Amino acid sequence: MHTLSSLFHNCPSYTVYAMASSSNYFSSFSRASLPLFFFFFLLLLHSDASAKLSTDFYAQSCPQVFDTVKSVVKSAINQEKRIGASLLRLLFHDCFVLGCDASVLLDDTPTLLGEKTAKPNNNSLRGFEVVDRIKTAVEKVCPGVVSCADILAITARDSVVFLNGPSWEVKLGRRDSRKASFNKANTDIPPPTSSLANLTAAYAKKGLSVGDLVALSGAHTIGKARCISFRDHIYNDTDINGSFAKLRQANCPCTSGSGDNNLAPLDLQTPTVFDNDYFNNLISFKGLLHSDQELYNTSGSSSAALVKSYSRSTAAFFDGFVAAMIKMSDIRPLTGKRGEIRKNCRKVN
Ligand code: HEM
Repeated sequence: MHTLSSLFHNCPSYTVYAMASSSNYFSSFSRASLPLFFFFFLLLLHSDASAKLSTDFYAQSCPQVFDTVKSVVKSAINQEKRIGASLLRLLFHDCFVLGCDASVLLDDTPTLLGEKTAKPNNNSLRGFEVVDRIKTAVEKVCPGVVSCADILAITARDSVVFLNGPSWEVKLGRRDSRKASFNKANTDIPPPTSSLANLTAAYAKKGLSVGDLVALSGAHTIGKARCISFRDHIYNDTDINGSFAKLRQANCPCTSGSGDNNLAPLDLQTPTVFDNDYFNNLISFKGLLHSDQELYNTSGSSSAALVKSYSRSTAAFFDGFVAAMIKMSDIRPLTGKRGEIRKNCRKVN
């Protein structure tokens, strides 16, 4: 009679251990039982696969979703280019907290503490009104069909495209959470004071690599930051170009509490164009955030090597960015019967 362990002779040791420890159970397996076992195993795999995201998820139920989202994003960006950056960031802050489930969009209620007032988000996240407008437009064409979590993923892609960045096919089928996590918003979104080791660990916790970290950080080629986010870096760090530090100090007083909300562009060259200048900035020590400059600090590190290669090739950056965005947008989605399709992105149904 075959034993299961003989079928797994190339498996790592943990498999052998698992097989050995359940030898009593498997010894009662007959040759006839094995196909049945694998049938159920395959069934299990299939049911998992069917809960995966797909690019044609709304092909029948809401083919208009893409045009509808795009036209609202377009008019918002025509009004203010920075909003494209803010909308892209919303997806990052959503996906890093409980997965890509639109938890970031929930307003506080007496019974639900949302994520909007958590430290990385408070007085900083923007674009909620644009998401409301998109949701209203989508509800008009396909009521009750498209989740707010999927709207965030499409919106992020469209924002990048309108600011001259790369395009990609967005996987869809996420559903919206009925909860949020103020605490996880504080612990799981890395702060701008993070070291490379902290950043790497925060991304690893979400299943993302150092390569993903560097590519996604290229999003800081657009948008702005507040003085409170970069004050320490421009006054206290040594890994910063002197004249760049002076330039930023001119509008960000060193005294904590004064000018905290004064803004500076994350990319000093082209803050409304999605390009690879962010990486050129890091190489000339003109990263605005401490966490940005960390990516280039350890010579010989894989992150520094990636910064160099992305600074040389926009195409390489765009490829890396697209791959990493697709990975990030895949973090723990609610699919199948889990979660709900919110009517209003700000509250659970
Ligand atoms: C690597 C870890 C990251 C850290 C520590 C970080 C930190 C920050 C900080 C501190 C700001 C400025 C906030 C403020 O001062 O109000 C900011 C802005 C921004 N972040 Fe990140 N970020 C990270 C990763 C990402 C990722 C993965 C994306 C998107 C893929 C992203 C997109 C943006 C954008 C577009 C802005 C500008 C937003 C605006 O102008 O409204 N960031 N980030």
